[in-house]
Amino acid sequence: MGTRFLPLTKAQPKEMLPVVDKPVIQYVVEEAISAGIEDILIVTGREKRAIEDHFDESPELERTLEHKHNNELLKSMREITNMASLHYVRQKSPSGLADAIYCARHHIGDESFAVMLGDTINIADVPLVRQLIDAHKPLGASVIAVERVSQEKISDYGIVGGHMLGERLIEIDRLVEKPSPKNAPSDIGITGTYILTPGIFEAIEQTEPGVNGEIQLTDALRVLAKKEKIYGYLFTGKRYDVGDMLLWMKVNLELSLKSEKYGRQLREFLKTL
Ligand code: G1P
Repeated sequence: MGTRFLPLTKAQPKEMLPVVDKPVIQYVVEEAISAGIEDILIVTGREKRAIEDHFDESPELERTLEHKHNNELLKSMREITNMASLHYVRQKSPSGLADAIYCARHHIGDESFAVMLGDTINIADVPLVRQLIDAHKPLGASVIAVERVSQEKISDYGIVGGHMLGERLIEIDRLVEKPSPKNAPSDIGITGTYILTPGIFEAIEQTEPGVNGEIQLTDALRVLAKKEKIYGYLFTGKRYDVGDMLLWMKVNLELSLKSEKYGRQLREFLKTL
């Protein structure tokens, strides 16, 4: 619901928060496309109509840009519309991440699929979701992106425990959603990108509400782990949790400074502050 961003998110969903020149959700969709994903289902809900509008055609806007011969902008507007085959399903109430994923079951059927959170931006040479797909292929099992997190951040994340199989792969045997540091199985946190087997849907059906009274994906994964192996993958690259106000500000600053168009001028301005 974006409560950490109020009043900014009073009339717009947090997935539409700007990061430099694009809303967060566009970074997510672009990562999926650059990883070769062609079929994208966005789980939306009440008050999230702006997401659909963002990826939809905008004839008036396009006509105006045509009129002004602003071809560069026109091209980028059309690219947004033609990005991929986008589908939408609505979650009736915000009852947790696992409940949102459950809304996608008919669309997905009996295949493994990727889950990407609408408030997480990953910057990596090989798209993070591609790294997970490559790790998933030989295993045929669920693989979830993980990274080490600081002690203060442990209670903000799902935390996993298990043993290392090689440099990046972890065979997971424990999963706890938002534990206190003393109850955490390790310092390895779930970062919000997952490849899941369709077995997750039955696991979600068997999952009771957890932290915040929501049906948590981490809890459903614990149910799934009783039947199937689940792996964690320590990815290469950087993840930005845009759902946190300070981190959202930091990602804006970092990516603006990297921007070819504005980076140099912004750096000069910062020196004057
Ligand atoms: C969700 C997941 C959590 C994961 C986190 C990553 O939590 O439930 O396991 O570590 O995303 O950002 P949320 O951020 O929705 O509270």
